[in-house]
Amino acid sequence: MVESGSVVRSSIVSSQVELHARYGGVVPEVAGRAHLDLIVPVVSAAVAEAGLEAEDIDAVAATHGPGLVGALLVGVSAAKSLALVWDVPFVAVNHLEAHLYAAFLEEPDLKMPMVVLLVSGGHTILVVMEDHLRYRVLGATLDDAAGEAFDKVARFMGLGYPGGPVIDRLSGEGDPDAVAFPRAMANDGWNFSFSGVKTAVVNHVRKNPEVSAADVAASFQEAVVDVLVDKARRAARELGAEAICLAGGVAANSRLRSRTAQVCEADGISAVIPSRAMCTDNAAMVAAVGWQRLGADGPSPLTAGADPSLQLPVALQLPVV
Ligand code: KG4
Ligand code: ZN
Repeated sequence: MVESGSVVRSSIVSSQVELHARYGGVVPEVAGRAHLDLIVPVVSAAVAEAGLEAEDIDAVAATHGPGLVGALLVGVSAAKSLALVWDVPFVAVNHLEAHLYAAFLEEPDLKMPMVVLLVSGGHTILVVMEDHLRYRVLGATLDDAAGEAFDKVARFMGLGYPGGPVIDRLSGEGDPDAVAFPRAMANDGWNFSFSGVKTAVVNHVRKNPEVSAADVAASFQEAVVDVLVDKARRAARELGAEAICLAGGVAANSRLRSRTAQVCEADGISAVIPSRAMCTDNAAMVAAVGWQRLGADGPSPLTAGADPSLQLPVALQLPVV
């Protein structure tokens, strides 16, 4: 529950990681059913923890996309029902926009323009936020998302699911310069590609079965972080941005966090690095956008449904350098 768009009154996160771990990835049907079981207890806990009564609630926001349709439908249907019962507006929120807003919950007065690196299991997007609700998508991955590459490499190496945290931890014991994995599209516009580095890891491990897993993990992580940070830095310079901000699950990565802090310090701009809890999926960031959108656009119609392939609106394109 969020007050005035940025004061978190309560934040309840019900993780399904353990439920999916035994399958090595998210199973859509399992996710949808778990949402159904958990939505009412989670909403009740959020209201109770905030110390509020139903009549204190001004609006109900829910993610309506992108994502798995079963899970989205549960959230959207529950939010619409609550909005009807409480007689308050319903606001349908774009999940990617919500990730962009996570940082504002910890630092409400962030200066813009700000380059945001939105890196999660499903997305890798380079965005410039010019003002509230005004942003441009500069580039995105053409194939695997950064988090997807972490998950696939970890699965191939038998490290478990989700792969990001395991590779992050293992990398601490390895040499990031041990293997020179490719930095795809490093000097080629604003888009990314991570399927090549994943294949390069697979080929390297097959050819060198005795190789140290920690060295492979550290070298893979370094290749991914290099491209992410270099592009964000170049975009920030090009646009005269005040800051580089991290968002999404991969923003929990230790190396990405430390390298972002380093380049920002060297370039004299701010590094906006939200807590790990704010980087991974949470409802507070959805409420933050709900508040912004309600002010700007008014309530969403109750006919708004789930949209599994919703994108960030693309406005003006920045020339590729
Ligand atoms: O944003 P998120 O919680 O869920 C969505 O995909 O929407 O992101 C999950 C992704 C997974 O691919 C996971 O492996 C990755 O974030 N991740 C990490 C780390 N923690 C989570 N990747 C690298 N390093 C981490 N420490
Ligand atoms: Zn997410």
